[in-house]
Amino acid sequence: MPAIAWDDSYLIGIPRCDEQHKHLVLLLNQAHDAFVNNSEAHDVPWLLNELIDYATYHFIAEEKWMSASGFPDFNMHKAEHDAFSKQVGIMYQKYSNNDPLVLSEIFSFLNDWLVTHILRVDAEFGKFLEQQNRILSRNDLC
Ligand SMILES: [Fe+2]
Repeated sequence: MPAIAWDDSYLIGIPRCDEQHKHLVLLLNQAHDAFVNNSEAHDVPWLLNELIDYATYHFIAEEKWMSASGFPDFNMHKAEHDAFSKQVGIMYQKYSNNDPLVLSEIFSFLNDWLVTHILRVDAEFGKFLEQQNRILSRNDLC
């Protein structure tokens, strides 16, 4: 059973973003499973590489769409993305230094990101687009 089950109340209404957010919840659950199964030696580097990938493809797409739509809180939102990338770098460094707490830190970090970023900041962007009456499809940028 996953630690955090995906719930459609997490949807922000931008299909491609929502698919990528589901992937992040999957990674969050993977961190939990690695902890439970004591498989961090195998899973921590995989998780960190997945998070680096996520920070690249997801944030670039989201920022392109925010910029293209004239989202007024773009700078604040991008600053949170940049902080995410910086924190992943810090955790990677801790992993390289054999920090035994890095796996629980990954789990807490992703849990916090779900609650404070996806469910609040990304949801605000979704509401903004809805107010702009934009018609979104799976072929949109984000
Ligand atoms: Fe975001």
